[in-house]
Amino acid sequence: MTAPDPGGGLIDPGTGWAEIDLDAFAANLDALRAHLRRSRPDDPADLMVVVKADGYGHGMVPMARAARDHGVGWLGVATPGEALALRAAGDTGRVLAWLYGPADDLTPAVGARVDLAAHSPDHLDRLAAAARATGVRARVHLKIDTGLSRNGCRPEDWPGLCRRAEALEQTGALEVEAVWSHLACADEPGHPSVAAQLDRFAEAVGVATAAGLSPRLRHLANSPATLIVPEAHHDLVRVGIAAYGVDPAPGLAARAGVTLTPVMTLRARLAAVKRLQPGDGVSYGHRWVADRPTTVGLVPLGYADGVPRTAGLTGIAVRVDGNPAPIRGVVCMDQFVVEVGPDAAVGDPVVLFGRAARDEPTAETWAEALATIGYELVTRVGPRVPRVPVGRDSADEVAVRERTD
Ligand SMILES: Cc1ncc(COP(=O)(O)O)c(C=O)c1O
Repeated sequence: MTAPDPGGGLIDPGTGWAEIDLDAFAANLDALRAHLRRSRPDDPADLMVVVKADGYGHGMVPMARAARDHGVGWLGVATPGEALALRAAGDTGRVLAWLYGPADDLTPAVGARVDLAAHSPDHLDRLAAAARATGVRARVHLKIDTGLSRNGCRPEDWPGLCRRAEALEQTGALEVEAVWSHLACADEPGHPSVAAQLDRFAEAVGVATAAGLSPRLRHLANSPATLIVPEAHHDLVRVGIAAYGVDPAPGLAARAGVTLTPVMTLRARLAAVKRLQPGDGVSYGHRWVADRPTTVGLVPLGYADGVPRTAGLTGIAVRVDGNPAPIRGVVCMDQFVVEVGPDAAVGDPVVLFGRAARDEPTAETWAEALATIGYELVTRVGPRVPRVPVGRDSADEVAVRERTD
């Protein structure tokens, strides 16, 4: 593959960085494909990798390239702007963008052969107008709201939307490539809404067909449904978080027999070390006060870099030189304090989150302590933090390994 550029970011990549393991990413894609084959050996669903939100914080273009190099035919993004950024980076494959507003001009995306979602007659009309303006037939994924109550066409409006789409197909302006929807509770095994959404989806496909449409694809499954709801696989699954090696909810990957390896390890080096005496307060508000002589270290990443401000109030411990080091006091914008052993030194390696297999906290560990989901931890890693690729396809492997040893 083309090795992605290391970094970007405004922090010295030896001070704080997100290591992105391309081998782990490839292994996750292999594991997910194997799972799709096990679920339906004769006709496994195809895999779309979702790279919106800067590739869930991992870097959109490098992850897109890595996915393509690993044979991924479909990429998914939220906005047409994200799709156009992929095109600008040289991506020529199938990309679906599913979220745009009333003021968004859809002409550039249609002209760039981006597939676009539509859930209202207004969307269809704008896509048809963009097609006429560019001379490129718009490829449309008609979205039915089967129960998430987010975007998507309400079932009562669906027959009318299908009729409008069919009429515009007849003019040659657009082509309905897919009918699709999104699940609300697929991460909760046995949740009754999943079966209800599957039923509504099947009805919607029937209505579309009766209206004269022949969508080539049906797609419904996100990562949780890909892992544990095989009936939702249909023709294509849209996988985000699992590709990045984060379990969508505790135990889902294990339940599916799929091994996921975290792609991101958030690393830093101690920027300072000092001794504290009993009564010394730490960070804004003195939310932690030493009750004994102890040693603390300074980690040069903060909430501007995606480390939640309240993490220090939850008992989360990072690793310093492999040893647990609890965060003390609130996290500041650019830095936070951890309690370390007496031998800690400036420059010691810090892992904020990485892999359980290396005895490190994971994004899921942080998510549980902070009452959120692993998605939020990785996606929030800020733009100052360089993303440093490692793995067999990365030219930077040696340099980074030296830094982290
Ligand atoms: C419409 C849609 N499909 C698929 C996904 C991927 O979800 P996941 O990261 O759970 O795989 C998302 C992510 O939020 C989404 O919005």
